[in-house]
Amino acid sequence: MIKPFHLAWFLQGSSAQAWGERWTGNIGANWMVPELFMDLARILERACFDYVLIEDSSYIGESYGGRGIYLEKAIAVPRQDPAIVAALMTQHTSRIGIVPTFGTYSHHPYLLARLIASLDQVSLGRIGWNAVTGSSDYAAMNYGMPGMPEHDHRYDMADEYMAAVKALWGSWEPGAIVNDSESGVFIDPAKVHNIDFEGKWFKTRGPLNAGPCPQGQPVIAQAGGSPRGREFAARHADTIVAHPKGIGAMKAYRDDVRRHMVAHGRNPDDCKVLFMIAPIIGETEDEAQTLKQRRAARAAETVAERLAHFGKVTNLDFSGFDLDKPICDIELTTNGHQLNLEQFKRIAGTRTLRETMADYNATSLSVELVGTPDSVAAKMGEVMEEVGGDGYLFSLNNVSRRALAEIEDGLVPALQARGLTRKAYGFSQFRDNLLEF
Ligand SMILES: Cc1cc2nc3c(=O)[nH]c(=O)nc-3n(C[C@H](O)[C@H](O)[C@H](O)COP(=O)(O)O)c2cc1C
Repeated sequence: MIKPFHLAWFLQGSSAQAWGERWTGNIGANWMVPELFMDLARILERACFDYVLIEDSSYIGESYGGRGIYLEKAIAVPRQDPAIVAALMTQHTSRIGIVPTFGTYSHHPYLLARLIASLDQVSLGRIGWNAVTGSSDYAAMNYGMPGMPEHDHRYDMADEYMAAVKALWGSWEPGAIVNDSESGVFIDPAKVHNIDFEGKWFKTRGPLNAGPCPQGQPVIAQAGGSPRGREFAARHADTIVAHPKGIGAMKAYRDDVRRHMVAHGRNPDDCKVLFMIAPIIGETEDEAQTLKQRRAARAAETVAERLAHFGKVTNLDFSGFDLDKPICDIELTTNGHQLNLEQFKRIAGTRTLRETMADYNATSLSVELVGTPDSVAAKMGEVMEEVGGDGYLFSLNNVSRRALAEIEDGLVPALQARGLTRKAYGFSQFRDNLLEF
């Protein structure tokens, strides 16, 4: 019997994203009013996606020889607060999960717990939180810190943060709201509790004034890739997003997460690992191959922009490096995204920076998918069977209504026809849909 898998979408912030790409209409003028993102949420809901993850960071990139290239090329700037777009999306949809990103360094646990609880309420139980530790000193400085704490230490702090947030969500017992006009009681005082949380880094008294979350506890998404990051994710996450390269690495990643979950006394089926993909879909195989070549050529033309983006997540300034020197001759370490850098070095081997960037994440992410809706759907099924589950996270750097239509009206019906993805939501709340299979 075929086991269906889950689909989600990685939206790179609420911004003028895909500016300069084809078929993006007047995004440069219209980015402030997020109609495109509302359409995206509605389209993905019609395609029965589990969730939209709204990526975020709270600083303007500077690591590529200064701010210039980030501003000129709209690389992750301007960028609105994801809570706003998430709230709007909840009002334009009724089933899909919405997952904004917030940093454990930028929001006090009380503020975060209240924000997410409020979103869970206005969406009637469809909110997730992409819990990130942050990685940039520029972001840390925006919140008054001298820089980011050391990589593994951030996860230690985040573990404590999670304990505080979960305790706040638990400060309302089930059934606390009685809403009984006859007795004149709205809330039963015996079911709302202080939490008096006092950790090494965070303190909060509680109870949460927002009231209870419809899901009890909203869905937690995570993407830690380093050994410490995976440990954190396996402890807390309901869904993990990742981009290991190739089927073997995908399987090893998922198996590792599942092993860690068992070690924490969790059922490994309670967390869905989704792998990043960027399918290239044509009407014929030939057309898809042509589109792939076009995408590769665009990647080669935009090496500087792509290095600026990569430098933003690794805190490395590539602007001073010789593009024609082998990467293995350059000393590269990071207090930022460690897995990304390790993967990059492994893929580079003895190649130069220019050669590596020409194909690094250019036409594929976890696995290459190029073809017609039917052949791509078939390959997605085969890959998932080998990996063992649980689904895919679409990440396109040319988000447009045209690209979305290819997925909703082309790829997804082909997946559904094979029984690989759902044709209708089984439940009204996010976690229930995520755990359905
Ligand atoms: C698919 C995906 C989405 C991510 N989204 C964000 C994000 O929105 N904001 C952020 O600060 N970090 C984000 N990250 C970074 C992760 O939270 C994490 O820092 C990164 O994967 C490196 O893991 P490590 O620190 O354990 O090495 C994302 C990573 C991946 C793979």
